[in-house]
Amino acid sequence: MPESKPYQPLLFRLLHGLNAAIGLLAIVTAFLVYNTYDGRFGKIPLPRIADIIGIHGTFGKLLILGIMPAFALYSFHAGQKRLVQPNSFEKLAQVGKPIWWYSLHQIVNTLMLLSLTFSIASGSMVKEEWLPAGELTRVWYYLHLTGWAVLVSCLAIHLLMSAKVGGLPLILSVFDSKFRPEDSPAAWWQKIRSLFDRS
Ligand code: HEM
Ligand code: HEM
Repeated sequence: MPESKPYQPLLFRLLHGLNAAIGLLAIVTAFLVYNTYDGRFGKIPLPRIADIIGIHGTFGKLLILGIMPAFALYSFHAGQKRLVQPNSFEKLAQVGKPIWWYSLHQIVNTLMLLSLTFSIASGSMVKEEWLPAGELTRVWYYLHLTGWAVLVSCLAIHLLMSAKVGGLPLILSVFDSKFRPEDSPAAWWQKIRSLFDRS
């Protein structure tokens, strides 16, 4: 692989990919739940899927109980340079320069983690029985609906920012399946140990 192509660590690709895939499935099934039981802000004629709430809850649980914490832990440690930096807001003074876009990209990456946390936290307060019983005015349900809108908006900006700072090669690098020998799973244990050795 030529060196000029962006390269993403394998662990980042696995965790980010899993998180994005299950996150997108949660977003899509969430819309289907809303479309089936609510529809106050607009509705699309779609076939009813039995137990769509259960399916959505399962993707949600997968995110809460493993995928999201693992990815967040990775992002805070090994992926820290891709998140908001102490001087990110200073850099935002240089409007339109590449560093401005890159700082915005780091801020939006961080917002992805925050908005996903808000959605999964509010979702865990929504009871499965509410929507089938027509209880559509519960506060946690409204917060959870808001979380969807915020997450989808952040995701759209996340994609635009990724395209702006790195174009298609950066976006493709996140899904690439090739990896360098020094990045193979066999070398991970050594890396995890060295993380603890440093502290
Ligand atoms: C239109 C927007 C949404 C609607 C109508 C909706 C609906 C629901 C309902 C009815 C529940 C309760 C089901 C249960 O407890 O098993 C729930 C739970 C949950 N939702 Fe959503 N949701 C929406 C958006 C999202 C988004 C964007 C995410 C995250 C990506 C998400 C993640 C979760 C999680 C983590 C749970 C808790 C699962 C559990 O603890 O069992 N939801 N949602
Ligand atoms: C719910 C879905 C998603 C979430 C929560 C999410 C979250 C994140 C986070 C937190 C980072 C920074 C990670 C770090 O600090 O190591 C990141 C980076 C990135 N994501 Fe996503 N993402 C999602 C979906 C996507 C999708 C669908 C794409 C592309 C189609 C994408 C493309 C990228 C790119 C290109 C980077 C930057 C890599 C770099 O700067 O080197 N993301 N994402």
